[in-house]
Amino acid sequence: MKTFVIGIGGVTNGGKTTLAKNLQKQLPNCSIISQDDFFKPESEIDIDENGFLQYDVLEALNMEEMMSAISCWMENPGHSAGPAALESSQRVPILIIEGFLLFNYKPLDTIWNRSYFLTIPYEECKRRRSTRVYEPPDPPGYFDGHVWPMYLKHRQEMNTITWNIVYLDGTRSEEDLLSQVFEDIKQELEKQTGGCCEHVG
Ligand SMILES: Nc1ncnc2c1ncn2[C@@H]1O[C@H](COP(=O)(O)OP(=O)(O)OP(=O)(O)O)[C@@H](O)[C@H]1O
Ligand SMILES: [Mg+2]
Repeated sequence: MKTFVIGIGGVTNGGKTTLAKNLQKQLPNCSIISQDDFFKPESEIDIDENGFLQYDVLEALNMEEMMSAISCWMENPGHSAGPAALESSQRVPILIIEGFLLFNYKPLDTIWNRSYFLTIPYEECKRRRSTRVYEPPDPPGYFDGHVWPMYLKHRQEMNTITWNIVYLDGTRSEEDLLSQVFEDIKQELEKQTGGCCEHVG
């Protein structure tokens, strides 16, 4: 069965989860797998010399478990989708995988039919992050001492990527981002699968 796999990567608080959920409402037969759901328990997270838990690295994630969830979807695509799946079972099943470290994990490199990467400037990122409560909560100095430096490191590593990534300005409104990406996906679906979603939206 043909499938269409979309990656939404990007900086913390760039709006990845929000965009994925907004897209799911518009796309037929669309499932989401969130990297946010695959963090290891706190007891397994490394601590650096400043006492900061090292959450913003691949080692903090149970990537094998996430790969199993992806394989599971591939074997039976579309079955975890909401009501849209019932109306559009003939259409190409779409999987959105969203998370901050998708494009730094080599085993996923060949999976993407389309890749997006949300960016926001340092100040906005720090501001948005300060309005959220993570589990465990960010201790003082965590953003500058761990989160942002790790983001910069991972961005640097992405310089070796050979496929096309569409960079998105995460400071644009939710609605603008949704319509930009939705239009792009529609075009790519046409090009890559001959499938379409002209009745959607
Ligand atoms: N386009 C947008 N404009 C302004 N604020 C936004 C936008 N998209 C999301 N937000 C807000 O930014 C915060 C982070 O959004 P979201 O959880 O979608 O980001 P994320 O990239 O998934 O973050 P995380 O690193 O926690 O996984 C939330 O408070 C959300 O309401
Ligand atoms: Mg998220």
